[in-house]
Amino acid sequence: MPNLSKPPVTVLGLGAMGSALVEALLVAGYPTTVWNRTPDRAKPLVTKGAVHATNVSEAVAASRLVIVCLLDYKSVTDVLDTAGDALAGRVLVNLTNGTPAQARQVADRYDVDYLDGGIMAVPPMIGGPGAFLFYSGSRSAFDTNRPVLDVFGESQYVGTDSGLAALHDIGLLSGMYGMFVGVLHAFAFVGTEGVPATTFAPLLKRYIGGMLGFVDGAAEQIDKDDYTINVVSNIAMQSAGYVNLTQSTHDQGISPELLAPLGPLMARRVADGHGHEDLAGVIELLKKGKK
Ligand SMILES: NC(=O)c1ccc[n+]([C@@H]2O[C@H](COP(=O)([O-])OP(=O)(O)OC[C@H]3O[C@@H](n4cnc5c(N)ncnc54)[C@H](OP(=O)(O)O)[C@@H]3O)[C@@H](O)[C@H]2O)c1
Repeated sequence: MPNLSKPPVTVLGLGAMGSALVEALLVAGYPTTVWNRTPDRAKPLVTKGAVHATNVSEAVAASRLVIVCLLDYKSVTDVLDTAGDALAGRVLVNLTNGTPAQARQVADRYDVDYLDGGIMAVPPMIGGPGAFLFYSGSRSAFDTNRPVLDVFGESQYVGTDSGLAALHDIGLLSGMYGMFVGVLHAFAFVGTEGVPATTFAPLLKRYIGGMLGFVDGAAEQIDKDDYTINVVSNIAMQSAGYVNLTQSTHDQGISPELLAPLGPLMARRVADGHGHEDLAGVIELLKKGKK
């Protein structure tokens, strides 16, 4: 049963993530109005207490707080552009994945109190202890609606610039995909000699876990602009070892595509006289942009 002492919330977009957001709101007792391009996706949520709006304007008009979670920013503007005047003056929380530039454009496009968000969780995690979300944009929108936002997971406000949530989101995704790259290469590599992935997985997790200290060490070196701090594995040594990684990848007959780019970057740092420094110095080459 919705708790009428709680403010109503509207959610536009009932994909895997939008539906998880609605379920969490319903469990927390928020009166929730929903809309989705394909109306059938609202049915299971209506049985749990959501109100189904038949068009975007009606959905938006139902609540001062409007949450949008669609596939991409094109779908966001496609949908919100149909809301007409209904959006004016409302709080719009956009939890759709996009770039910092897209977030800033949407913030400027509508007459709303705008908060952009990045969800650092998969749908089953929403409402649980492992979920956290970045928010940026209107501080007052964040503070006023914090109890609702906290329903989804831990809320982290990262600044008034609307683009900052997407910046943090994509920063974390970069780390995640980097890890996936290494894991996939490793499985392909040992698989060439018949080592089952399930046999290798515990070793991989143990080793990657042990290497996580790199994050804090690199962060200190980067912020101090000094890649000689606490060096235990200098880049000249690592570059020489990477040649073996590249060579054996070739010898085993698998594609080097995922891991190949790091080798030349390390070699350039060594050639530039930084061989005694740490791997983190490669970031100086990234900062110079595309060659
Ligand atoms: N799922 C995850 O693990 C996860 C994790 C973090 C962040 N996110 C982000 O959350 C957002 C939603 O993801 P999802 O998992 O819910 O995706 P999804 O299951 O594929 O759902 C996509 C949603 O977008 C709607 N949509 C797509 N194009 C549209 C258009 N042109 N006009 C109107 N509606 C349109 C779909 O409507 P129909 O039902 O009509 O197709 C559906 O509601 C994405 O930005 C995603 O990156 C997802």
